[in-house]
Amino acid sequence: MQDFYLPIKTVHLSLAMISLLGFVIRGWWAINSSPLLERRWIKIVPHIVDTLLLTSAVLLMLILSQHPGNQDWILAKLIALIFYIGFGSLAIKRAPTASTKILFFGLAIATFLYIIGVAIAHHPASWLQLIS
Ligand code: HEM
Repeated sequence: MQDFYLPIKTVHLSLAMISLLGFVIRGWWAINSSPLLERRWIKIVPHIVDTLLLTSAVLLMLILSQHPGNQDWILAKLIALIFYIGFGSLAIKRAPTASTKILFFGLAIATFLYIIGVAIAHHPASWLQLIS
């Protein structure tokens, strides 16, 4: 299983970047009320990417024997992921006006950047831990 650590980590990172890129594109469409958002595959593909992202996270946790129950930073990532999904859904679907969509879009991107900082620092303080 250890042999798979680096390849799975690369897949995890790549899927995280694909997820972010897809979210930025869909957020742009949502803010501009683009009909492209209504395409069937545009609604399905993000769920597949996010499921694979979580699957790669589970595999990494198994390989490292680290999980939300024994590592605060992984728990922080998991909680932040729930916020990212919630803000993202508000930005793309549920927020009523373009300005509220922009607000939740910004919050979702900020949460994503927090998650990357937590992943690199292995600490819930994220980027604050890295610069101190
Ligand atoms: C938006 C979601 C996510 C993003 C952007 C993200 C980003 C990253 C990044 C950048 C790394 C590499 C860190 C490094 O080696 O320096 C990483 C590793 C990792 N992530 Fe994620 N991740 C996400 C979701 C998750 C979730 C939900 C979990 C678990 C609940 C998780 C668990 C892990 C684990 C265990 C590692 C390996 C850490 C190590 O090699 O020491 N990730 N993640």
